[in-house]
Amino acid sequence: MPFPRTRMRRNRRHDWSRRLTREHTLTADDLIWPFFVHELDGTEAIPSMPGVERLGLGPMVDAVGEAAELGIPAVAIFPVVPAEKKTDGAEESFDPDNLVCRAVRKLKEAVPGIGIVCDVALDPFTSHGQDGLVRDGYVVNDESVAVLIQQAVNQADAGCDVIAPSDMMDGRIGAIRDGLDEAGHHEVSILSYAAKYASAFYGPFRDAVGSAGNLGKGDKRTYQMDPANGDEALREVALDIEEGADMVMVKPGMPYLDIVRAVKERFGVPTYAYQVSGEYAMLKGAAERGWLDWSKVLPESLTCFKRAGADGILTYGAVEVAKALRAG
Ligand code: PBG
Repeated sequence: MPFPRTRMRRNRRHDWSRRLTREHTLTADDLIWPFFVHELDGTEAIPSMPGVERLGLGPMVDAVGEAAELGIPAVAIFPVVPAEKKTDGAEESFDPDNLVCRAVRKLKEAVPGIGIVCDVALDPFTSHGQDGLVRDGYVVNDESVAVLIQQAVNQADAGCDVIAPSDMMDGRIGAIRDGLDEAGHHEVSILSYAAKYASAFYGPFRDAVGSAGNLGKGDKRTYQMDPANGDEALREVALDIEEGADMVMVKPGMPYLDIVRAVKERFGVPTYAYQVSGEYAMLKGAAERGWLDWSKVLPESLTCFKRAGADGILTYGAVEVAKALRAG
């Protein structure tokens, strides 16, 4: 029934009618907070991610405690590995006393109720900044997977709840599942970065963990997906589910919401999206110049993820937005 019988604005007229007809609601339950830990005691600013800091283990406990108190279900840890511990073979990634494991053990003791997600990929630990092992200039698949299994089991041994492979090697989900099960970790979940694109939006993250210099002019296009591809994302997700992923992720987030929608519709599995460092920097940078209202664009952007079908969002703004939601 066209205008004037139908007036779309009727439902929008009042606050109560807008609330009553609202289709999606953002809550703290939708959030995963990614954060950076370093070996130093205090905190350190990250210039390309204003408002985000590298945290020592002490400040980390306080910050994650606050996240738990705000109702955020899970956090994701990313380590800043000192240059002298980076090697071609990423041996530090499976050292039981590495920074990630120490952080996990500390959090399990201090903030037992929050879920801990650990990334699986070698880039924080490699001298070349690639997510896998490099042979003759090429990131090799199967040999890399063997190391990723060791990394995953190491993190599970430390008490990590969710293993999140972000490396995009073929076959790693099944191999890591087998490795975890053989080590007695059948209760540890896998959140697969199933459709992860070779994106320039990861720039600030690579500054934050200090892998940008290692990677240099290199890129990750031989394993991360081409931003031009959509059908291929569905094949990637299908394979990861078949191999045993409990949850899947699309990354980056905002420029890839069509993929989030397609994945959720096709597979109906728990689907997450990562609002990555460059998306954060883009919004925050504009807000710092007074061009955008941060307190509005952040929740709006996250609500859009929900509308697209995401069950949850990894965002550097998780704590801030959870605080705002609580304040109402
Ligand atoms: C590691 C990893 C990256 C991100 C998460 N895990 C970087 C990359 O693949 O180069 C990016 C996260 C962000 O930009 O916020 N493989």
